Amino acid sequence: MATHPRIEELRRKRALSRSGGGEERVRKHHESGRKTAYERLELLLDPGSFRELDAFVEHRSTNFGMDKQKFLGDSVVTGWGTIDGRLVYVYSQDFTVMGGSLSEVHAAKICKVMDMAMKNGAPVIGLNDSGGARIQEGVESLAGYADIFLRNTLASGVIPQISVIMGPCAGGAVYSPALTDFVIMVRDTSYMFITGPNVVKQVLNEDVTAEQLGGATVHSTKSGVAHLVGDDETQALMLVRELLGFLPQNNMEDAPFSPTSDDPLRSDAELDTIIPDSPNKPYDMKDVIEKIVDDGYFFEIQPDYAANIVVGYARLGGHTVGIVANQPMVLAGVLDIHASEKAARFIRCCDSFNIPIVTFVDVPGYLPGTDQEHNGIIRSGAKLLFAYCEATVPKLTVTTRKSYGGAYCVMSSKHIRGDLNLAWPTAEIAVMGPEGAVEIINRRELAEAEDPAACKAELAAEYRAKFAHPYIAAARGFIDDVIEPSETRARLINALQVFQNKRDENPPKKHGNIPL
Ligand code: HXC
Repeated sequence: MATHPRIEELRRKRALSRSGGGEERVRKHHESGRKTAYERLELLLDPGSFRELDAFVEHRSTNFGMDKQKFLGDSVVTGWGTIDGRLVYVYSQDFTVMGGSLSEVHAAKICKVMDMAMKNGAPVIGLNDSGGARIQEGVESLAGYADIFLRNTLASGVIPQISVIMGPCAGGAVYSPALTDFVIMVRDTSYMFITGPNVVKQVLNEDVTAEQLGGATVHSTKSGVAHLVGDDETQALMLVRELLGFLPQNNMEDAPFSPTSDDPLRSDAELDTIIPDSPNKPYDMKDVIEKIVDDGYFFEIQPDYAANIVVGYARLGGHTVGIVANQPMVLAGVLDIHASEKAARFIRCCDSFNIPIVTFVDVPGYLPGTDQEHNGIIRSGAKLLFAYCEATVPKLTVTTRKSYGGAYCVMSSKHIRGDLNLAWPTAEIAVMGPEGAVEIINRRELAEAEDPAACKAELAAEYRAKFAHPYIAAARGFIDDVIEPSETRARLINALQVFQNKRDENPPKKHGNIPL
């Protein structure tokens, strides 16, 4: 029997919709090293799981002869699918249609999937490749952006939102990603900027390439806008799949359990010798983390930005934990503006999504100096303090070595609702390090000493023996227990079980006023 003409028409329309901006534009797009909107969705989602919405939507503009340039679906592909069998909502901007620019209907399509995601409690993943507001549509396009920004903000802390930047994203196309939980970029083919190199040249007479202005390297090392970078599009999309495996579907659920054959009681003798004898000698905190977590696997977030603090996800006994750790290998693990902001945002993300936080402490304090003071270390440092104080998820803390001054209070101390505060015998908990302390409290003695250097060394050794250990804090109950490093994994997994039903609340309020 012949196929009904209406069915043939539907097939024709579908094929047209899937062809984006046409063969020539798709060819150019491929030549630039990028995949099409549909190809990306096929890679991201479980095979055959994508269900498209609004494939027949067309823009309504008649300005600048736009009525003669219509494309089925306009410049974005939207719908839902699954990742490892779990529901996700997606949108994928199509650069081959008017540069993926955001029209009124493009925005409405995105808003529709965001509303569905909120109603059904599932993550939204945006694949961004867009020249920003569709210039021909004027304020209607701007209104569309505002509609999306509002939804991004209302969804924040309710469902995970992940943005992948897969081309030159300009203007409004970068603000929606900036409001989401994670931004992932693709090396060499993705850019983020408010205004592109041409505008920079016109306004500031500055010559800058797209890569220098807003490439993946810039945003993953300097600005901190990007959380992860894929070497190519496929890797970037695989990072999304992996990241989602650590996150719950929404703020009412727990992160998925991932069974492991790694023994929860496994002890690692190497941890007992990992802290160098000299207090000023660094060691890699990531080695510590990897020796403790399931299968030695740590999924680091923002690895190349503010590397003096390490944040990321791992599992302990199959459960997701968020890890925050000072890194003695970089700037001696000091807290500065960027490190404080990086960790504060990560902590709030964990707290929003019911992910317990494990903190490893080896911190000499906040970074002093005019640069830090003038740029607001007081405000930025307070963000980290605020984030730890307000978090109500289980908070487990392990002090491996230094924990000095204000940084002691900040790094998930007992006083700010740390649930279990453990210290290794090598921990040094004091107002400041021995060298700094003796210069202040023994100033007169040092000034009068025949050999000031020898005198200082002697006084510092005395101070260290008296104060630079965990037992004064443990005697006050500020440290719950001093443990052998090798038993850390077993102790943390036990604590996660003990605190899994933890209930803690902040006073009723509209929201706190974090020092932004
Ligand atoms: C309409 C657009 C467009 C836009 C690109 N195109 N951006 N059409 N509105 N915003 C079209 C181009 O005309 C071209 O059409 C096609 O998309 C591909 O663009 P190219 O320039 O050829 O591509 P490329 O050289 O790769 O450069 C990409 C780009 C550049 C860097 C994104 O196109 C660009 O700078 N676009 C404008 C960026 C911008 O200023 N956007 C507005 C921001 S204001 P043809 O037919 O020739 O193939 C904004 C306000 C929101 O977004 C603010 C909210 C806070």
